[in-house]
Amino acid sequence: MTSRPRSIVVLTGAGISAESGIETFRASEGLWANHHVEDVATPQGFARNPQLVYEFYNQRRRQLLTPEISPNAAHAALAKFEHEFDGEFLLVTQNVDNLHERASSQNLIHMHGELLKMRCLNSNLIFDVNEDFDYDTRCRCCRSAGNLRPQVVWFGEMPLQMNRINRALENCDMFIAIGTSGNVYPASGFYRTAKIKKASTVELNLEQTDSSFDQRVYGPATESVPLFFESLLHS
Ligand code: APR
Repeated sequence: MTSRPRSIVVLTGAGISAESGIETFRASEGLWANHHVEDVATPQGFARNPQLVYEFYNQRRRQLLTPEISPNAAHAALAKFEHEFDGEFLLVTQNVDNLHERASSQNLIHMHGELLKMRCLNSNLIFDVNEDFDYDTRCRCCRSAGNLRPQVVWFGEMPLQMNRINRALENCDMFIAIGTSGNVYPASGFYRTAKIKKASTVELNLEQTDSSFDQRVYGPATESVPLFFESLLHS
């Protein structure tokens, strides 16, 4: 590692929550092995069969709210680093779980939305939710049934807060991707945006991905993330 960075952007993916008990998308037994993406994660799938989509997110919400699911040492290490680091720090997650905020991360963007939120299709108002939904659930603002959708970004939709993310990427001097396969655009291109402005790029993952980072650290996130960020703090 060269000099200590002053501005850091971290991108996390499903791999950081895997050891908390939430399955990733592209593992052999992952979510996309057992569900058709086009049915449960596209606007067209929702229009065709909203009940199926509601049920998919109901299951995931119920799982997230079980007492067994909690932030792990990697989520905690990122929150600790943010608290102690004296430079700029932005955490961008593709995950729709709430484990980063439960670990006390502060400057956090959920670019793919949040599982514990629903949006009214009439007003675009966003509501916190813990309970199950179905097609008959009445919206809290317009009182109509069938007007609510998960506040999750589906394939073919624009991720959230991209202007803010791009500004941070263009101004950072270190970009770190943790537990993401790099299969989904635009997150898969973040390291290139950062590199153009000469940031150093680091990947922390269980295994090598196809993206070309300057530095790679392999291992389970609960081990590699605390070690990496502790040494960064003292660099
Ligand atoms: N520690 C570190 N990395 C891990 C661990 C672990 N314990 N377990 C798995 N990984 C890595 C895998 O090697 C893989 O590279 O996490 C990555 C998970 O990849 P995906 O399942 O593709 O998840 P992600 O990259 O977050 O997916 C991006 O795809 O379907 C969409 O919207 C969904 O946000 C998601 C997006």
